[in-house]
Amino acid sequence: MTDTPASRPAGFRHAEIGVGGEEQTRVLAGMLDLQARQPAVVRLREWALARLAPEPGETVVDVGSGVGEVVVRLARAVGPTGRAVGVEPNPALRAIADERASAEGAASATFVDGVAGDLPFDDGSVDAVTCERVLQHLDDPEGAVREMARVLRPGGRVVLLDSDWATSVMHPGDQDVVARYQAATWAGFANPFSGRRLRSQLRAAGFDVDPDIGSAALVLPDEALRGGMIGAGGPGAVASGAVTRDELDTLLADISAAVDSGEAFVSVTMFAAVGRKPA
Ligand SMILES: C[S@@+](CC[C@H](N)C(=O)[O-])C[C@H]1O[C@@H](n2cnc3c(N)ncnc32)[C@H](O)[C@@H]1O
Repeated sequence: MTDTPASRPAGFRHAEIGVGGEEQTRVLAGMLDLQARQPAVVRLREWALARLAPEPGETVVDVGSGVGEVVVRLARAVGPTGRAVGVEPNPALRAIADERASAEGAASATFVDGVAGDLPFDDGSVDAVTCERVLQHLDDPEGAVREMARVLRPGGRVVLLDSDWATSVMHPGDQDVVARYQAATWAGFANPFSGRRLRSQLRAAGFDVDPDIGSAALVLPDEALRGGMIGAGGPGAVASGAVTRDELDTLLADISAAVDSGEAFVSVTMFAAVGRKPA
């Protein structure tokens, strides 16, 4: 998510899209909005946009654009002569993104149906691509990065951003239980350690890779912890035998009490890498 530390990102995998109907869309959009407000996401998006450096008149693409905030910002940067396109397979998220972009007057923003592994663009027709917290949900992230290389023109830029779930911190709680709970949660991700692989995936797809890596620790705000994000992975973790029902209940109670006392801390680190297609 997603990207909710220690909870399963229901609905962000392609196979699950649309499964939960309107209620699930509301939850997914709310989760993306909440994350977009967090300082880590704000900072890393600033970093990524500065590296992507979209210019007026360019065609830029956000793969897996969710509710479309990044696309609106790209649209402002490329202006009326450019195109900012969000590729998003979830029609409900596309509808939200469309509505918000219109409300913001972002005329060069459009949202199209598509998937990362088969982008709806001709070879060499795109100036810049970004993709945030999508590769972790894909069975073939390498293929997706190769597809980005295909659509980019020579000299085109790509910025990939993703979480690495091995960096997830959950406090308080018995750390042995936490470790088992997290491992069970990650088992539901196609590619849970995506963050560490971004540079090598870019290199494998033929990109020149910038040496510096962007990073930011997404710390979940108390409102998210109160809202039950942490417990979302619970039923799966119990069903798989990773934790017992008692262990789960104790963990959730510990975290809930810690939220009230201001002690709770749940985070996951996001990384970002920049590739340039050789001219
Ligand atoms: C965690 S959300 C991230 C959304 C947005 N990039 C952001 O950072 O706010 C993952 C997004 O990837 C989309 N997605 C899922 N499978 C995809 C695929 N195969 N190709 C492209 N996008 C996909 C989901 O619908 C969802 O919008």
